[in-house]
Amino acid sequence: MAAEILDGKRISQEMRDELKTEVEGLAAKGVTPGLGVILVGEDPASRSYVSAKEKACADVGIFSLEASLSADASQQEILDQVQTYNNDERIDGILVQLPLPDASIEEDVLNAVLPEKDVDGFHPVNVGRMMLGLPTFLPCTPHGILHMLKRSGAEVSGAHVVVIGRSNIVGRPIANMLSQKSEFGNATVTLCHTGTRDMDAFTREADILIAAVGRPHTVSADMVKVGAVVIDVGVNRVEDASRKRGYRLVGDVDYDEVAEKASMITPVPGGVGPMTITMLLVNTVQAARGRLS
Ligand SMILES: NC(=O)c1ccc[n+]([C@@H]2O[C@H](COP(=O)([O-])OP(=O)(O)OC[C@H]3O[C@@H](n4cnc5c(N)ncnc54)[C@H](OP(=O)(O)O)[C@@H]3O)[C@@H](O)[C@H]2O)c1
Repeated sequence: MAAEILDGKRISQEMRDELKTEVEGLAAKGVTPGLGVILVGEDPASRSYVSAKEKACADVGIFSLEASLSADASQQEILDQVQTYNNDERIDGILVQLPLPDASIEEDVLNAVLPEKDVDGFHPVNVGRMMLGLPTFLPCTPHGILHMLKRSGAEVSGAHVVVIGRSNIVGRPIANMLSQKSEFGNATVTLCHTGTRDMDAFTREADILIAAVGRPHTVSADMVKVGAVVIDVGVNRVEDASRKRGYRLVGDVDYDEVAEKASMITPVPGGVGPMTITMLLVNTVQAARGRLS
């Protein structure tokens, strides 16, 4: 049995078309959603993520501003830029592209973003609200996974979900959201990590298996139950001399063999990645809606 492919590009496009209509409606009421982007340094991967996010904004009618700071910008300069966006009425959401060249200041910088403009969902206030099941900005990657599961018709309520990885941006929030007594949740969740003994025994029991590890070949077919839904969050570069750039992107899951066993599976690229950007747009429009109340 070959799995149904959970096509993140298609689901994203559907959601972006819906958003475009909503943005037109907001514009008719005099509100153009605005995103303020902060990019520090010239890391090519960060540059390309920021460009993709800005293009996605433009496609749905969100106005974006970019502040590009040099790699040696001081903490104060970065905080000043956050403050500028905090005070700018045209800016509903603020995106600080991570990682910063100096990762040790990331926490201070993210905490300086006003919680009501924190469209990445990383501010402790919003993390706490998510944890409590209160309305908030949900972090984009796990939020995107929720929508993929919902729109693909996967049965989440009552399912056993196994998440591999406990990072603050993916593993822990998705485990939390899916375990909540909510429209998108109500699952029984097991969270695995490097301290988990006999991880395969858990993954083989999973109705839904989510890999957010950052290591190729973490999930092989013998770790997956027949008919499971497999969500591969990992994005890993592996050498590939046949490609012009010398590498290709793969996930954490052995896609070809697992696709023969799973009922649904996300590809890499083209699965969770496009959803992450779409949820940034969703959160920015959500923030802009706040201007009407
Ligand atoms: N597509 C997207 O939009 C998107 C967004 C975000 C991240 N990603 C990708 O998703 C992957 C994970 O990102 P992240 O930020 O969550 O990574 P991270 O912060 O490095 O966390 C990785 C997690 O995996 C666990 N882990 C590592 N090796 C393991 C193993 N052999 N067995 C079990 N658990 C293991 C680690 O456990 P410990 O806690 O015990 O160390 C950690 O909790 C990366 O490839 C990243 O590029 C993709």
